[in-house]
Amino acid sequence: MKKIGVLTSGGDAPGMNAAIRAVVRTAISKGMQVFGINRGYNGLINGDVYEMNTRSVSSIIQRGGTLLYTARCPEFRTEEGLQKAKKTCEELGLEGIVVIGGDGSFRGAADLSERGILCVGLPGTIDNDIACTEYTIGYDTAMNTVVEMVDKLRDTCHSHDRCSVVEVMGRNAGHIALNTGVACGATFVLVPELPYDLDEVAKKMLETKKTGKQNFIVIVAEGIGHSELIAKTLEAKTGIEARATILGHVQRGGSPTLRDRVVASEMGYYAVELLENDIGNRVVGMQQGKIVDFDIQEALSMKKPFDEKLYQISNTISI
Ligand code: F6P
Repeated sequence: MKKIGVLTSGGDAPGMNAAIRAVVRTAISKGMQVFGINRGYNGLINGDVYEMNTRSVSSIIQRGGTLLYTARCPEFRTEEGLQKAKKTCEELGLEGIVVIGGDGSFRGAADLSERGILCVGLPGTIDNDIACTEYTIGYDTAMNTVVEMVDKLRDTCHSHDRCSVVEVMGRNAGHIALNTGVACGATFVLVPELPYDLDEVAKKMLETKKTGKQNFIVIVAEGIGHSELIAKTLEAKTGIEARATILGHVQRGGSPTLRDRVVASEMGYYAVELLENDIGNRVVGMQQGKIVDFDIQEALSMKKPFDEKLYQISNTISI
């Protein structure tokens, strides 16, 4: 195909700009025209689309957020919304679209592919909760932000002999919580994938206190939530002063790490290669470090395993 579009949809993630840059420049280098679609599927419905050139994406590889803005678009879930989007594509001659986002965005990409506009999804979310890929764009940067923040919390916990209960993002997935918990030396990590017992957490805090440990980090995944209540409960059970911190959207911002920039570039390039060969209705992913692609419906039906071994390691070495 010769004319494609690119959009970002759902929650933003650091590295989305690097992916847009790769898509735009790969397409141009292959003699294709490429159009930026603003604010996800809304831009497609409203015709908020512009042609991009190699300079449209200059100096964005290091920037967080997304040059194309992003949004969640309920109208795109209706037949009317899909038909409006299809009409915009037909008017502009767009034959394919690269959709950078999460599972929700891929459902839209499958619906549009069924209606003749071939879409390729790129996994862009800090949560790393997309089953067909071991890595999603934004995950590494978000985790490094968490580590930086928790290290700062550790300083003040140390000064006050306190416990810091830190809630991290991840929607219903505990991947950010587990990995940052290991990286920050958290005493306990609470994730939605596995059962937990606050009595066990309190017991571990008291046992390690006996060996001389004076401050504690407990990482709580967003899918567990209630971090204020957890802090109060742990304080009541242990007598150790506890404070809750919800890190929130700070985790979605910032300059992408090397890993996010490189993976975004590889995936963006791969997506355009698929469209160049008129292959659509696919999601790009990473398996054993290699870039691969899957049928969107197949990708959406997959289930991501949780790293129970790492959870076990975390519990073993945080004593
Ligand atoms: O999917 C990314 C994410 O940041 C999740 O971790 C979180 O649950 C959600 O988006 C927050 O969404 P919003 O930005 O709409 O509040």
